[in-house]
Amino acid sequence: MSKSNYIPADDRYSNSVGYNYCGKSGLKLPKISLGLWHNFGDVDDTDEALKMIQFAFDHGITHFDLANNYGTPAGSAETNFGKILKSNFSSYRDEMIISTKAGHEMWPGPYGDAGSRKYLIASLNQSLQRMQLDYVDIFYSHRYDSETPLEETMGALSDMVKQGKALYVGISKYPTDKAREAYRILRENGTPCLINQDRYNIFTRHIEQEVLPLAEENGVGFIAFSPLAQGMLSDKYLNGIPENSRAAHSYGFLQKSQLTPEVIEKISKLNEMAIQRGQTLAQMALAWCLHKQSVNSVIVGTSSVKQLQDNIDALKNLNFTDDELWKIGELGA
Ligand SMILES: NC(=O)c1ccc[n+]([C@@H]2O[C@H](COP(=O)([O-])OP(=O)(O)OC[C@H]3O[C@@H](n4cnc5c(N)ncnc54)[C@H](OP(=O)(O)O)[C@@H]3O)[C@@H](O)[C@H]2O)c1
Repeated sequence: MSKSNYIPADDRYSNSVGYNYCGKSGLKLPKISLGLWHNFGDVDDTDEALKMIQFAFDHGITHFDLANNYGTPAGSAETNFGKILKSNFSSYRDEMIISTKAGHEMWPGPYGDAGSRKYLIASLNQSLQRMQLDYVDIFYSHRYDSETPLEETMGALSDMVKQGKALYVGISKYPTDKAREAYRILRENGTPCLINQDRYNIFTRHIEQEVLPLAEENGVGFIAFSPLAQGMLSDKYLNGIPENSRAAHSYGFLQKSQLTPEVIEKISKLNEMAIQRGQTLAQMALAWCLHKQSVNSVIVGTSSVKQLQDNIDALKNLNFTDDELWKIGELGA
């Protein structure tokens, strides 16, 4: 049953986060997308999870990013998202871009990990079942697998499109030379690569050298994950590790050991800069990613509606002076 308790479509889209074309494709992505890696699993607050998805959708965030292994336990983010879709969004499917991935370990034995055709196709079928969907909008190879011929991995992606189980395909965290080959193979298969997803934030900028220019040259879009470096690029860790933060959770990927005194000092200086710009540090960090023209969208992973609102407000100021960019470059290095 669908529940249409959302902001009317006219307002939703006229006051929305805004959209960018994904590379040279005809698909528009919201400038801010919502990722369900953390905060949507069985260990998380399911009421807040629903509220975040509703809030996102009401603000024009049409893109929801998942993977087979998201949530604790793995798979639970897709299952929970599927339940939310079914009971709240069943009449809105055509207004949504839903992505999933496979590439990391998901089930025991030789067929539940890496890049074989067997794993990727079985995994997509499982994801569709968990989310109660007929198709996903984007399916990603979640990482490069040097043991499987790239033709096999890309062939599996192309067949998903040909079977109608995915509308587009993408790659994530591929080394540059393998990304180049993947783009070629997918193009030759008649199913061009839509998008590359990689880590990009003030502290992690290596993709600027080759990954971003290569995507642009090939007409492939780019979407940044962990734009807040898992929350480090916010003011939350300035005075210790708050209870309930990602670094405090035993099941979170952010390790306390990453929050060294040197890192905290950098965060503190970046925070001062953000205040001078009239932004929170999280807002400045997102604005900084989106300031780069080849970044079509950033995927944020929020744990509350309040954080999501804070992040959406980043869009109020995406401009940086050369001096600010230089200082951020120095502090991020
Ligand atoms: N392709 C891949 O291999 C890959 C890898 C990683 C992620 N991803 C995708 O990218 C998405 C985002 O990654 P991420 O979760 O690491 O992103 P992130 O935005 O860098 O970090 C999210 C965390 O930052 C904190 N946060 C968010 N907004 C905040 C705000 N306004 N103020 C203070 N703290 C704030 C929250 O931490 P607390 O929980 O502590 O409140 C939140 O859980 C994932 O959900 C997934 O879809 C893809």
